[in-house]
Amino acid sequence: MEKWSLMTITVLLGLIVRWTVSFGSYSGAGKPPMYGDYEAQRHWQEVTYNLPIKQWYFNTSDNNLQYWGLDYPPLTAYHSLLCAYVAKLINPDWIALHTSRGYESQPHKLFMRATDGLQG
Ligand SMILES: *[C@@H]1O[C@H](CO)[C@@H](O)[C@H](O)[C@H]1NC(C)=O
Repeated sequence: MEKWSLMTITVLLGLIVRWTVSFGSYSGAGKPPMYGDYEAQRHWQEVTYNLPIKQWYFNTSDNNLQYWGLDYPPLTAYHSLLCAYVAKLINPDWIALHTSRGYESQPHKLFMRATDGLQG
């Protein structure tokens, strides 16, 4: 039984650390034009949600590949799309085409950490 409590404590500690870190700053926060670590992920949600699949990997007026262009295989892109649906439910601003660029807020940061965790 002692082993179990040790494991539980370790897991909880891990979660707490993760949670705390998610409130801290991250590289590139608030720095245009590329913004922070998770802007790439957020941008992919924006792109995959708003554009037809055929356009995901092509440079168009709605998809500037020089700005965090999607360079992951489709499987990861579908994960972005899935997260985008959830994001849309919570706050459509998070993935609004064009206008969501560089979006940053505390709830959104938590959302990104959470979905990142789901990804592994
Ligand atoms: C891609 O599209 C953007 C506009 O979304 C444009 O500014 C950029 O020059 C294009 N890049 C290429 C390589 O065509």
